Amino acid sequence: MRVAVMASGRGSNFDALHRSSLDPVNPAEIVVVVSDQPGAPVLEKARRFTVPVEVIDPGTRRGAWSQAGVGAALDALRRHRVEAICLAGFMRVLPSEIVGAFPNAILNIHPSLLPAFPGLRAQRQALRAGVKVTGCTVHLVDEGVDTGPILVQRTVPVEPGDTEDTLANRILEQEHRAYPEALRALAEGRVTVEGTSVTLAPTLT
Ligand code: GAR
Repeated sequence: MRVAVMASGRGSNFDALHRSSLDPVNPAEIVVVVSDQPGAPVLEKARRFTVPVEVIDPGTRRGAWSQAGVGAALDALRRHRVEAICLAGFMRVLPSEIVGAFPNAILNIHPSLLPAFPGLRAQRQALRAGVKVTGCTVHLVDEGVDTGPILVQRTVPVEPGDTEDTLANRILEQEHRAYPEALRALAEGRVTVEGTSVTLAPTLT
């Protein structure tokens, strides 16, 4: 399965997805990294692994995309014959034209146990709420913000004295396990979606 990773920043999840895709039995292949940030470190990482990169300009600083921005993104995805997309720290909501073009084939990772703490600074939200357990979620993308059927979640304890950074790092370790697991399940055709409920069939190996 030909996969695009869309990312705006550091790219540690891209790294984890790419490493896992190098396993010859994994049918997921990262064929392009698409970023809305020309200086994003993820682009350097991709180049180091000789993964093609595309920088797109959504046309607005925040919120709605311009028609030209949507067209450029769809064009890049089509040129690389992309079949599925992983949002990995892509800090923009995808426009409905892109969501609609890849039904049940766009994944996102979020650093909380959704539906708790959607949106920005999920770790800070968790600390402020005083929860003892948080984690990460991989879900299918619909037109909402951090909504859509959930594929994989992993829990992480909140420790006394945690800061946003220490908690984010502990969650990130689990993100790097959850995301490759979810993408591989999608690529192997082991994902069944019924309404808001997703079933992952077990691996054959
Ligand atoms: C990750 O923690 C990811 O869960 C979060 O951005 C970070 C990207 O890190 N995404 C969101 O908050 C989306 N709502 P990375 O660039 O090292 O993969």
